[in-house]
Amino acid sequence: MTAVTEATAPASPTPGPVKKLTVHLRVKRYNPETDTKPHWDEFTVEAEPTDRILDALHTAKWTIDGTLTFRRSCAHGVCGSDAMVINGANGLACIQLIQDAGTEISLEPIRGLPVIKDLVVDMEPFFAQYRSVLPYLINTDDPGYKERHQSAEDRERFDDTTKCILCACCTTSCPVYWGNSDYIGPAAIVGAHRFIFDSRDQAADQRLDILNQRSGVWRCRTAFNCSEACPRGIKVTQAIEEVKRAILYDRV
Ligand code: SF4
Ligand code: SF4
Ligand code: FES
Repeated sequence: MTAVTEATAPASPTPGPVKKLTVHLRVKRYNPETDTKPHWDEFTVEAEPTDRILDALHTAKWTIDGTLTFRRSCAHGVCGSDAMVINGANGLACIQLIQDAGTEISLEPIRGLPVIKDLVVDMEPFFAQYRSVLPYLINTDDPGYKERHQSAEDRERFDDTTKCILCACCTTSCPVYWGNSDYIGPAAIVGAHRFIFDSRDQAADQRLDILNQRSGVWRCRTAFNCSEACPRGIKVTQAIEEVKRAILYDRV
């Protein structure tokens, strides 16, 4: 048997250069300082199939037009800041690959919130609705020197809704929200759900009263757009139904 030495071992194949794709980004743009209405611009960039749409946007901004405006922070699907309408559906530009989106990609700002510039919208109305449901633990009992304990089963009750990154993909895909921005929207309901079903919390009734108002859960028509839009895979419509049931039947 011949010993395989470094000298006789077959050389591992050298990976060839990755074939780049020519990608056409059509971006709906609006500059309040110069435009009276939005218009479309096209940017042609080179990208690898495994690049993200965010990479292609960066290439367009850094090499073609520095005024192209979009928001991003983590670039890894965690901060929720680069939600946009990608080929007609809400998503995060930082987690969608070019090879999945194709070489003709349309990008628009998410709908239902005021456009500040290009793909950047004013998120304040969205965050105000989120804040209105008291999205934090409320418990006035002094735990002393111990932590507030919780069983694994009780923790599981709201596990899904802890995954929300407040990207607004759900709320801005909701036809009810487009028609009436007073509707509190699915993201705020998800945020409320996370605490309503937390066994350590004492303010579930307060939140359910808020969500029982005219602008609350009853505006939802169970169209499922929100669940499909969520990049975290949260069962948004199920969370909304659980909140509705809690209001009607079994206050927690
Ligand atoms: S299920 Fe309700 S909240 Fe979700 S998109 Fe439909 S109407 Fe909007
Ligand atoms: S529920 Fe999903 S889509 Fe809605 S804000 Fe949270 S992470 Fe985004
Ligand atoms: S940049 Fe943070 S989620 Fe996309």
